[in-house]
Amino acid sequence: MNLKKAAILLSGSLLMTLSGAVVHAAVDEADAQKLLKDSQCGKCHDEKRNKKGPSFKKTAAEYKGKPDAMALITKNLTEPHEVEVDGEKVEHGAVKTRDAARIKNLAEWILSR
Ligand code: HEC
Repeated sequence: MNLKKAAILLSGSLLMTLSGAVVHAAVDEADAQKLLKDSQCGKCHDEKRNKKGPSFKKTAAEYKGKPDAMALITKNLTEPHEVEVDGEKVEHGAVKTRDAARIKNLAEWILSR
């Protein structure tokens, strides 16, 4: 086996190991909760109970089976926009992090309620 071939084989198996790790990574419950708390989402959202905003359980049910669920939720968590609370338009707010992995984790947490 020449060196180039060996390198290709090696990087191939490395990639497989890495993607396997991503697939098997479970939602980090503690980090999702912390990010919700730090971003003050609890003012309007609860996991199971509707408050000013819908419960995360309700949102998860609404998005179940939709192929673009992750994209839509991520957009909702990161891009400023207005929502209506008691007939008034208010800033929705966004997560207090720019860490893509933490945002993805929170979106997955919401969708798995
Ligand atoms: C001022 C109250 C308020 C705050 C603060 C708030 N939300 Fe919301 N959120 C709402 C309301 C109201 C809606 C419903 C909007 C609608 O149905 O158009 C909503 C909708 C959502 C949805 C569902 C979107 C959809 O398309 O169904 C998610 C997910 C969400 N919020 C997550 C969060 C997270 C995470 C935070 C913290 C960064 C947060 N919200 C902060 C009021 C709030």
